[in-house]
Amino acid sequence: MNAPVDVTNIRIETDRLILRPWRQEDLEDFYEYARVDGVGQMAGWQPHASMEKSQAILDSFILEKKTFALELKGSGKVIGSLGLETQGRNVGIPEELLGREIGYVLSKDFWGRGLMPEAVNAVIDYCFSVLGFDYLTCGHFVRNNQSRRVIEKCGFHFLTEYDFETRMGTSERVKLYILYNPQKVR
Ligand SMILES: CC(C)(COP(=O)(O)OP(=O)(O)OC[C@H]1O[C@@H](n2cnc3c(N)ncnc32)[C@H](O)[C@@H]1OP(=O)(O)O)[C@@H](O)C(=O)NCCC(=O)NCCS
Repeated sequence: MNAPVDVTNIRIETDRLILRPWRQEDLEDFYEYARVDGVGQMAGWQPHASMEKSQAILDSFILEKKTFALELKGSGKVIGSLGLETQGRNVGIPEELLGREIGYVLSKDFWGRGLMPEAVNAVIDYCFSVLGFDYLTCGHFVRNNQSRRVIEKCGFHFLTEYDFETRMGTSERVKLYILYNPQKVR
């Protein structure tokens, strides 16, 4: 079952990042990385063609309260997002267990420095230790080796795979992984 989530009052610090709710002032930083070719397509969406597009998505981030902004410490700049998404399909997880699916995107300028594993590990720790989730899932398109590596490095285990219709009107094969809360007896 999807766990309740509200990031409004959550702030998570890692060595290099602050994870916190999105704000209207983040619009330019968001557009700066979301407009770049080859970023959103790996997650199933087209590069933002205008700042209005970024504004609309930013409004939904603020309204839905399930997505963190990834702020680079020391600069105040937002360089990515990490969402705790609902799982729409039945992937065989027992209904009584509470969890969410992690989704993420990082500015291309910052790829390859281990920043997303750092953010994901901090969110895993928070969701398990503070929010008491039973599990987290995370998935990637089969062609997305960068995301596969993040998932592997964060200790997830393969769960299942399925076809997914993207917002771009394309179909992608998804591999979905799961991590159970080790603090909970199963
Ligand atoms: C997936 C993503 C978040 C990874 O973040 P990151 O902080 O760069 O992660 P890492 O630094 O751990 O790098 C992960 C892998 O990417 C690869 N990589 C790193 N820099 C790269 C670059 N500039 N170009 C291509 N691949 C690169 C490496 O193979 C690395 O694996 P390794 O640690 O085994 O060498 C980032 O690539 C991204 O935002 N991609 C676009 C959106 C996306 O795919 N979202 C996920 C949807 S499921």
